[in-house]
Amino acid sequence: MDIFSKKKLLKYYLSSCKKDNKTIGFVPTMGALHQGHLSLIKKAQQKNDIVVVSIFVNPTQFNNVEDLEKYPKTLENDIKLLKSINCNVLFTPTVNEIYADKVISEKFNFDGLEHQMEGKFREGHFDGVGTIVKALFNIVKPDIAYFGQKDFQQLQIIKKMVEKHQLKLKIKGCPIFRENDGLAMSSRNARLTKEHRKAAPLIYKTLKKAKKKFRKKKPEKVLKWVQNQFKKHDLLELEYFTIADEKSLETIKSKESDKKYRAFIAVFAGKIRLIDNIKLK
Ligand code: PAF
Repeated sequence: MDIFSKKKLLKYYLSSCKKDNKTIGFVPTMGALHQGHLSLIKKAQQKNDIVVVSIFVNPTQFNNVEDLEKYPKTLENDIKLLKSINCNVLFTPTVNEIYADKVISEKFNFDGLEHQMEGKFREGHFDGVGTIVKALFNIVKPDIAYFGQKDFQQLQIIKKMVEKHQLKLKIKGCPIFRENDGLAMSSRNARLTKEHRKAAPLIYKTLKKAKKKFRKKKPEKVLKWVQNQFKKHDLLELEYFTIADEKSLETIKSKESDKKYRAFIAVFAGKIRLIDNIKLK
């Protein structure tokens, strides 16, 4: 595996791959890699000649200093994992290499997608995500980039950015990878205490039950039921649950037969914020 920390050298390497007509798949990450990331890389390997993974903990997308400072960093192990699945290229830039002396976000308009759900609770988060993803796309110039559906809002926002900025690449959303007990894989899971880790599968269990209830009940009733599940809980605190249209990400009040819906949830397990979602129809 070739490892680059300088964008100039990576660009030079990838331009020679392009000259040889090789296609480039890209998996941007913030490291602390798990099976979910590896599944994205494996998907990318099936369709592309070269797969580039980036590991960069992007400061501008964190709205919480502690979350940024304590974000798990496991570079040595990440490199081992990437080598074990024959990843071709790893890009690990420094903050200075990406932002020079201005660690700030560009301001984006994602046609309102950025104001829903995560946007309401994590100010500036999607400007930070847009800034880093656009910068990385510019450096790597991939044919296809791969993102997990756990961050479904992020995925829709990146698709919107590609469309609005007429970027020449495809975005592929990939299914959520789960632990055996249903907890969605996330680098943040490593920061859960034993007790919180034991409690966390309730999040997906609740989503699955909410999906069943949604067949017969109004969204508002499902929301009330979910709120009650967490009211009783000592270790998990519900931040939001919403049933939203998959395209606009707007919360719905009633169902329409030709629309697709998803249920989204954010829960605090102690200081660790976990998100998840489930397709409803
Ligand atoms: O999903 C993530 O890990 C990050 O938001 C991303 C896309 C790598 C941008 O920093």
